[in-house]
Amino acid sequence: MLPWYDAHARALPWRVPDGTADPYRVWLSEVMLQQTTVATVRPRFAAWVARWPDVASLAAANESDVMAAWAGLGYYARARNLLKTARAVTAEHGGAFPQTEAELRRLPGLGEYTAAAVAAIAFGEAAVVVDANVERVVARLAEIAAPLPGARAAIRAAAAAITPTARAGDFAQAMMDLGATICTPRAPRCLLCPLRERCRGYAEGAPERLPVKAAKKARRQRHGTIFWLTRPTAHPAGREVLLVRRPAKGLLGGMRALPTGPWIDAPPGLAGAPAPADWRLLDATVRHGFTHFDLDLALAVADAPAHGAAEGEWWPVDELAAAGLPTLFAKAARAMEGLA
Ligand code: ADE
Repeated sequence: MLPWYDAHARALPWRVPDGTADPYRVWLSEVMLQQTTVATVRPRFAAWVARWPDVASLAAANESDVMAAWAGLGYYARARNLLKTARAVTAEHGGAFPQTEAELRRLPGLGEYTAAAVAAIAFGEAAVVVDANVERVVARLAEIAAPLPGARAAIRAAAAAITPTARAGDFAQAMMDLGATICTPRAPRCLLCPLRERCRGYAEGAPERLPVKAAKKARRQRHGTIFWLTRPTAHPAGREVLLVRRPAKGLLGGMRALPTGPWIDAPPGLAGAPAPADWRLLDATVRHGFTHFDLDLALAVADAPAHGAAEGEWWPVDELAAAGLPTLFAKAARAMEGLA
């Protein structure tokens, strides 16, 4: 794997060939890369380190700025945990990341995968780093045919057995790159693979059927309504729209958002409107997939009554891009533009 990595490693902005990896950049990139593709992360990583170049500057940031800077990356608990971890590193470790997997694991907000990845990539510890790419490579290599998630322990043991003590970080990243570029889910390019001759899945003739996944339960469908309440501004052509901050606990917690009513099994209509107004339900919906359910949101619009009160923040419609809205609400705003 290591000679292959030396020849084929992807050039990624958080990697430092032949240099010392900065633990802050390694940690940040690993958190961003959980659930988000390399292509999406690249520019977002660059913008983030330009704004918060080290752990101390991030620790000093506002939570709402951090949440807004994460907008569009999804799984917003990651942003809150990032800040929690940065503050713990600054307050309790004098601004330097602890250097072992075990100590990293004790930081608040830093999970099993991230602790192993930072220990290996930034500090060279022979930690066993298993993400979905590594899982796939190892399941094929060792021909582990038990279905996920039950097979995780066997996969981890097989990964541990091949993790070298030298260059463990490069090894981990080599496995990830192999999974991303060659040992791909559907049509693996086995003829280019440095592990082909040792791969039991290849020898058996059908590596692409591994890893086996347990049948998924049907995802639940939920429904809700997004309320688009606008009012004129001092600027004659301008309008502003009511935004709220979502409760800290729960989905999209702490993010700025358009107001919504309840998310339930049947369309809730105008229940939970943010203010009494002459609401109109539009013939349009916005769809969004969460981990455990799909959400269909109807759009309701109204002009704010002249003397009505509504709780939230009035935001200029033509500056919504700067509000840091999660993708779901950015989609709704774009739909409103199309309908306007
Ligand atoms: N996916 C998650 N972390 C990665 C890394 N360090 N290199 C390549 N792909 C990754």
